[in-house]
Amino acid sequence: MKKLIAGNWKMNLNRQESVNLAEDLRSGLPKSPAAEYVVCPPHVYLHEVIKALEGSALAVGAQDCSAFDDGAYTGEVSAGMLKDIGCKYVILGHSERRQYHSETDELVAQKAAKAHEQGLITIICVGETGGEREKGQEQEVVGRQLRNSLPDCATYKNTVIAYEPVWAIGTGKTAAPQDAGTMHSFIRQRLQAEADGGDLFRILYGGSMKPENAADLLSTANIDGGLIGGASLKADQFIAIAKSAQND
Ligand code: PGA
Repeated sequence: MKKLIAGNWKMNLNRQESVNLAEDLRSGLPKSPAAEYVVCPPHVYLHEVIKALEGSALAVGAQDCSAFDDGAYTGEVSAGMLKDIGCKYVILGHSERRQYHSETDELVAQKAAKAHEQGLITIICVGETGGEREKGQEQEVVGRQLRNSLPDCATYKNTVIAYEPVWAIGTGKTAAPQDAGTMHSFIRQRLQAEADGGDLFRILYGGSMKPENAADLLSTANIDGGLIGGASLKADQFIAIAKSAQND
């Protein structure tokens, strides 16, 4: 399966910087890619980044969407609106949303169902905290998140899983490829048991992925790509990671 390299820009960059980064990626990423690429800017810059990347191999995704179709939901952006402006992907259930916005697995599943109705591909994030890993609960936590955050309509075609250990996000601490590999094969087994086409789901690793560790992580069994935060804000770093995915 083709690897997927996804950039999560989070709440960073201004309008001009977003367009510049998109243009730098457009010109710097491999022209006949053996991997797929997506960038996820903040909502307000989606439209301009989509315009800057029109006709390129780079897809655009959002970082969240509403669990509702439309109506009186101040501040929300619906999956239909994202589809309407040309988004292909949406990240859901990122640990920062789970932590700062109290998002539950059930809410993530509701959002994902709306995104799938609109034909968006969801990148659904799961991952344990450092405390949970210390207590040896990582598989229990990730297994539960996986079971409850995926709607019934989830298939390998409309859903990508991102395993992001919370203790590795933005901290510079990366999961060792063996530990990430153990969790990825656990996730694979769960998908095989609980979803159709479990072998075909892409399972991304996220958490301080950077050019120096990308090749090792991306060549580990069941790591089918990366969800990259900090290093996706620098064109040269994102491109270097993308090239490691090509070599695999
Ligand atoms: P990071 O973020 O690469 O900065 O650790 C990853 C993410 O949160 O998606």
